[in-house]
Amino acid sequence: DEADGANCPDSLIVVSNRQPYRHEYDDEPDSERTEIAGERSADDRPMSVDEPTGGLTAGLDPVVQHAQGTWIAWGDGDADFAVTDDQNCVAVPPKAESYTLRRIDLSEEAVDSYYYGFSNQVLWPMCHGFTDRIAYQPNQFDWYRRVNERFASAVGEHARADSTVWVQDYHFGLAPRLIRDAVPDTVTVAQFWHIPWPTPQTFRACPAGGELLEGLLGNDLLAFHVTDYVENFLDCVGRYLPSAVVDRNRNIIHYDGETTSVVATPMGIDAESYDRDARSAGAKRRSSLLEAYDVSPENVVGLGVDRLDYTKGIPARLAALERFFETNPEWRGEFTFVQKATPSRTQIPAYQRYGDRVRNAVDRINRRFETDSWRPIVYTEDYLESTELCALYRRADVMVVSPLVDGMNLVAQEYIAASVDGDGALLLSDRVGANERLGSHALSIDPTDVDEFADRINEALSMSSQDRQRRMDVLRQRVFENDLGSWMNEQFDHMRRLDRKAALDSRK
Ligand code: F6P
Repeated sequence: DEADGANCPDSLIVVSNRQPYRHEYDDEPDSERTEIAGERSADDRPMSVDEPTGGLTAGLDPVVQHAQGTWIAWGDGDADFAVTDDQNCVAVPPKAESYTLRRIDLSEEAVDSYYYGFSNQVLWPMCHGFTDRIAYQPNQFDWYRRVNERFASAVGEHARADSTVWVQDYHFGLAPRLIRDAVPDTVTVAQFWHIPWPTPQTFRACPAGGELLEGLLGNDLLAFHVTDYVENFLDCVGRYLPSAVVDRNRNIIHYDGETTSVVATPMGIDAESYDRDARSAGAKRRSSLLEAYDVSPENVVGLGVDRLDYTKGIPARLAALERFFETNPEWRGEFTFVQKATPSRTQIPAYQRYGDRVRNAVDRINRRFETDSWRPIVYTEDYLESTELCALYRRADVMVVSPLVDGMNLVAQEYIAASVDGDGALLLSDRVGANERLGSHALSIDPTDVDEFADRINEALSMSSQDRQRRMDVLRQRVFENDLGSWMNEQFDHMRRLDRKAALDSRK
């Protein structure tokens, strides 16, 4: 399946927090993104444009290009508004313009409260079940509402009668109902919620929970990764929105004159591109990172790739590795674990503390076991180009994906797609969305059970190459068959099938 947008709606409006292109003045280059064009701003300062390098924004970009649609997102680049018109719009991609990027200008206070505040210190911990990490201040919710209103009114300015609006993620819990009020009745509003949806017991801890549910029920279609989250959402609506009518057989909710279909559609990745990068000349099982750290080509390699986020379970993973080296001394000097960690949301104290905790644990374990010629854990926070990342994936004999909770986890899929030799083993947490599709052919782990985890590492390292191949064949088939393109087609099929017009006619 190609993610080329052949199946997408005619008039598509995407709403997301992150934008697909970012303009930056060249005096402050951003090493995390690829520079694609040299440009100059109106005041003649040199600028560059960063383009997305992975994940959803990279995958959606060709679709919005194909649809010649509109993308509405937070303009977070320092030169973003030096290139936009009166309506804060710019045509993208640069030099191959095919769609409109509408940027929302957010003040520092708005970003602090809407993004770092309510989105990432209330909704993020709540949806992942970390209620003790919720740090709520009422004014943050006011900002969250205000920012959702600004996005909704921007949608109102771009929507036509036949538009489909596709909202991404938890930054926009209120926007769907506001959008519904700002666009013609014939417009379809859909949303994908990329993180878990919690049980009613957990959701009880959510400030303004009722308002959030009402906001989400402004959607015609609300999609999650897996059926557990769909069930939890229906349970929450049944419990906390008594006037809503929940049709359990069809997963449909009627509320305040609107009908919302709730579906599970697990997200995939652009598997072909990981396969291609892993096969590219530079990636032939040689990783410059490992060379830079003097990891012997003879060493067996384990790998973890995560954002530095407390949901990812990195300290428990390190504890399991420490136990593994304790109880399996024959592997010292023979097995190296590489942890690539990407700093994330670093303005939030919990994330800063988490980073310190991880770095300290790595140092301690290395000091405990290292020799003159070997260190057990290679740790890096450096940005890695896709080919280097794929070289690492390809080189890794064992991939460890052990979040405490994760909506889906795309890293597990990336590893599989880049395992072009078919001989890697995947250790996969039983608490991630990806477990539903991949768990049967991965080595399943409880990420908090240190002893079992250590045993599983040993099991993965001792597995016969036939067993690895057999499992990896199935995993690759699943990842390629259910890739990003087929996920998008599934969303668009659902949107089309809603037949909003028929629903409106039947109400007359
Ligand atoms: O998993 C949810 C998500 O929003 C992803 O879409 C994204 O890759 C990740 O979190 C990063 O978050 P942020 O935009 O806060 O850096």
